[in-house]
Amino acid sequence: MASREELLQCARETAQRAHCPYSHFRVGAALVAGDAIYTGVNIEISSYGLTLCAERVALAAAISSGAEPITQVAVACIDVPPEAGIAERTPCGACRQWLADLAPDAVIYIDGVERDFSVGDLLPFAFGL
Ligand code: THU
Repeated sequence: MASREELLQCARETAQRAHCPYSHFRVGAALVAGDAIYTGVNIEISSYGLTLCAERVALAAAISSGAEPITQVAVACIDVPPEAGIAERTPCGACRQWLADLAPDAVIYIDGVERDFSVGDLLPFAFGL
């Protein structure tokens, strides 16, 4: 269990390692699962459509490490101006589906947004098998 602010700070620090030579839009994600924290950054390559978002990189790191259930997720887009709205800070649609599948009970913290979110807040009526 990390505090909201600790996990957001971790996501902000992680975002500094983003590989985003095309968008220059750095994103970091930090997840808590049991006693462990897993992190991810957005990774862009020359074939832009193959970009990986920070959230999915962090989720993949957790799952591939055999993580316990994910309870907290923090996301930080560190290049948005302070006056930017919520849409420039929240996970994209693909990442919302990944969260619905892989971290359905997590509380989600978004840097620069006061309220916390559940996965259902971000993706109501999510697809699932
Ligand atoms: N990005 C993320 O890492 N997470 C999201 O949920 C939204 C977008 C990245 C993808 C791309 O590298 C950059 O932000 C601009 O879209």
